[in-house]
Amino acid sequence: MALNQGLVVFRDGLVYSEGDAAIVSHALTTRKAVRSVRLKPGASVNVGPYRFTGMEAPEGYDAAIAIELVKPLAEAASGLATRAGRLTLASLRLPKRWAAWALALLVLVMFFALPAGRIFDLPWRAASQSPGVTGDRFWNPGPMILAHQPIETRCAACHTVAFQHVKDSACLECHTAVGHHVGPELKPVTLFEGARCATCHRDHKGVRATQRDDDGFCVACHRDIGRKIKSTQVENASDFATDHPSFRLSLLEGDSVRKVRQGEDDLTESSNLAFPHATHLDPAGVKSPSRGRVQLDCGACHRPDASRRSFQPISMERDCRECHRLEFEPAVTSREVPHGKPAEAVNVVSDFYASLALNGVKDSFEKAFGVPGEGLLRRVGQPSESQRKVALQLAKRKADRVSEDLFEVRVCSTCHEVGRNEAGWTIAPVRIASRWMPQARFSHRSHAQSKCADCHDVAHSTDSADIAIPEIETCRECHAGSKPVEKKVASSCMLCHGFHDASHPWNPAKPGAVAEKLDAR
Ligand code: HEC
Ligand code: HEC
Ligand code: HEC
Ligand code: HEC
Ligand code: HEC
Ligand code: HEC
Ligand code: HEC
Ligand code: HEC
Ligand code: HEC
Ligand code: HEC
Repeated sequence: MALNQGLVVFRDGLVYSEGDAAIVSHALTTRKAVRSVRLKPGASVNVGPYRFTGMEAPEGYDAAIAIELVKPLAEAASGLATRAGRLTLASLRLPKRWAAWALALLVLVMFFALPAGRIFDLPWRAASQSPGVTGDRFWNPGPMILAHQPIETRCAACHTVAFQHVKDSACLECHTAVGHHVGPELKPVTLFEGARCATCHRDHKGVRATQRDDDGFCVACHRDIGRKIKSTQVENASDFATDHPSFRLSLLEGDSVRKVRQGEDDLTESSNLAFPHATHLDPAGVKSPSRGRVQLDCGACHRPDASRRSFQPISMERDCRECHRLEFEPAVTSREVPHGKPAEAVNVVSDFYASLALNGVKDSFEKAFGVPGEGLLRRVGQPSESQRKVALQLAKRKADRVSEDLFEVRVCSTCHEVGRNEAGWTIAPVRIASRWMPQARFSHRSHAQSKCADCHDVAHSTDSADIAIPEIETCRECHAGSKPVEKKVASSCMLCHGFHDASHPWNPAKPGAVAEKLDAR
């Protein structure tokens, strides 16, 4: 037995604390197992047959306690005697079998009933969640994937019903934007017979994601895709280097997308925007009104977007307007029409000539209208209504001619398909594709070490209908198939492809969630 079974010490007041060898004492006030009790006035602790109670310290003293005998000494002495003897099951009058039962019960309570409190919503639910209590984390069969570690202890986030398979709905609660591999018309449920999220994503197997990332999984279907889906346009693929079809490009056509295969189909696009790369990439430079001859590089117009995966959309204002000014009467003024809505441009032109006809100085008037004279209000102090009408008719005729020239001959039509209907001029909607290969995850960031021209032969393109997206042979210069090849990048299917396609929501009842996520990108 240790010498110091219990100590009363002074630590900012009296404290009773159990000695090193002791187990735990019982504070009457809290009924909690503790190693020490602060003997504040009124607080007490039972030590053997005695009770120590803290008291208000009298004048001149640091502290005081009252000690009273609360059990007959004789009884306590016999108790002490038995405890001093060897502690055996028999001495505690516990048969061995009972002990086994008791221990089993303890384990059951600690590791099953307590944690189950939360899962089955039993009365001790709150207690089972408090820290320091063995929660259901003791049932955890292994570490979660890295991405899930923040939610590792929230078992119920996935195990919504205890002791049943994890339901897809639990995963979809957080993964709202996850899509299926194929659209509903191809019946993914039968294609991936019986596959739940958890059949491919078994968790608790370590920090790495557990879905299969070997080509075997993909090739099982894609080696002979026609066997899975009879009428498919998709060709077989089993290895990037040796058995992978040439790419199909997704071309925007109105609001729909047409897929054309490189090397087979007629490859032209119609963005409704005229743009000859060759003219602008002339090695001798192009004329800029403000800077003289300048040599444009690709980055002058194609600025990397935030992800550096792809490029910011082309903008007339930022990329073209420096050289392609929207002046409508260069002989008289450097004023330009605003770019965009045709009606606004027409208004600016009309207003300009109307005010010139009324207020113009001689020089501008004569240059603009080609007749001698000056603004009506300058000529005649108080013009009559009919004089005013004649002046404005002159202005309108001129404005119409200038607008026609602006839209159809000189300015807008340089770049746009211009039409005309009873409401005025129309501009065909500009559709510049930003994803040509939506089924693959190509990123310019990973290819920044290559020159643009290695992949895009635009320097000789004189027509925006040309397409300069590289073909599979270009990729194969650096990308090997699944098997490693010296000096090439070994490329499994999942280097370039994902499995889930967000455009086919897993849960079609919630397509809104997917659409929002896609918009947010
Ligand atoms: C991110 C979701 C997720 C969380 C959180 C989660 N689990 Fe799981 N758990 C799974 C998946 C998936 C399985 C595979 C079972 C299946 O096929 O339904 C699984 C399986 C299990 C199994 C069965 C053992 C096995 O290997 O099949 C036990 C037991 C289990 N989890 C306990 C827990 C406990 C305890 C917690 C909390 C500490 C927890 N899980 C948290 C997803 C989760
Ligand atoms: C409480 C929310 C929550 C639940 C429930 C949940 N996850 Fe996740 N999961 C996340 C978060 C957060 C990430 C990390 C960010 C991301 O990739 O979207 C993640 C990432 C993943 C990843 C990507 C792992 C990686 O390495 O990139 C997979 C796969 C995944 N979860 C599958 C599942 C499956 C299967 C279930 C159902 C068993 C599930 N999740 C349930 C929140 C959740
Ligand atoms: C037939 C197998 C399979 C099934 C079923 C499956 N997945 Fe996946 N999942 C994969 C594979 C393979 C990947 C890795 C592909 C990749 O890198 O994009 C993946 C990737 C993921 C990712 C991370 C990449 C991403 O696209 O966001 C998440 C999150 C995910 N799965 C969630 C789910 C959820 C939720 C379900 C159930 C609704 C589910 N998965 C069902 C095979 C499957
Ligand atoms: C259970 C069979 C199956 C598995 C496994 C499978 N796929 Fe598919 N995959 C299909 C079917 C079916 C289509 C749709 C064909 C169609 O649209 O006509 C498809 C479509 C695709 C497409 C889009 C083709 C296009 O241009 O529309 C790609 C890319 C693709 N899968 C790659 C993969 C990759 C990578 C894997 C492995 C992670 C994989 N697939 C696993 C059956 C499967
Ligand atoms: C003066 C601006 C400008 C410069 C400089 C420029 N581009 Fe473009 N580029 C455009 C515009 C505008 C479009 C969209 C026109 C269209 O519909 O094809 C485009 C389209 C593209 C496309 C997609 C359409 C296609 O033809 O395949 C590629 C790829 C491209 N440019 C590559 C380049 C490369 C590489 C360079 C440098 C060698 C470059 N561009 C320099 C303005 C420019
Ligand atoms: C640095 C000045 C400069 C910039 C910036 C510029 N261009 Fe040009 N562009 C020119 C010049 C100069 C010509 C006339 C070349 C010629 O006729 O020889 C021209 C000609 C054109 C033509 C007519 C070609 C023909 O032969 O009919 C189109 C269309 C065009 N540019 C579109 C654009 C678009 C769209 C942008 C912005 C994405 C743009 N340009 C940016 C200087 C520029
Ligand atoms: C140098 C070439 C160029 C000239 C000249 C030009 N535009 Fe544009 N325009 C563009 C480009 C590039 C876009 C697409 C990018 C943007 O909106 O900035 C565009 C977009 C537009 C759009 C929006 C089309 C859509 O579908 O979103 C309208 C409308 C338009 N222009 C009208 C005009 C009018 C009217 C004129 C003549 C006053 C004109 N543009 C002159 C290059 C030009
Ligand atoms: C390794 C080959 C490769 C190199 C190098 C490369 N690209 Fe591309 N580029 C592609 C591929 C592939 C696509 C089609 C990507 C897609 O649609 O998913 C593309 C698409 C584009 C597009 C049209 C899509 C968009 O984002 O607007 C432009 C513009 C473009 N590249 C410009 C450039 C410029 C500028 C450079 C040099 C800084 C460059 N590329 C370097 C392969 C390459
Ligand atoms: C180096 C990148 C790369 C690798 C590796 C790769 N692919 Fe592709 N794959 C592409 C590109 C790019 C496309 C065109 C994407 C599109 O159509 O939007 C494509 C298209 C496809 C298509 C559509 C075929 C069609 O008829 O249009 C399928 C299916 C496919 N890949 C499956 C696979 C499989 C299976 C593997 C693994 C054996 C694989 N791919 C490996 C880049 C790759
Ligand atoms: C000049 C060599 C070269 C060419 C050509 C090339 N690649 Fe790559 N590619 C690489 C390298 C290097 C990596 C980086 C590999 C890595 O990070 O492990 C890469 C990575 C990739 C990735 C993974 C990107 C990521 O960020 O996850 C994809 C997808 C890809 N390439 C597709 C293509 C396609 C499609 C083509 C043809 C249009 C192509 N590559 C042409 C060298 C090249």
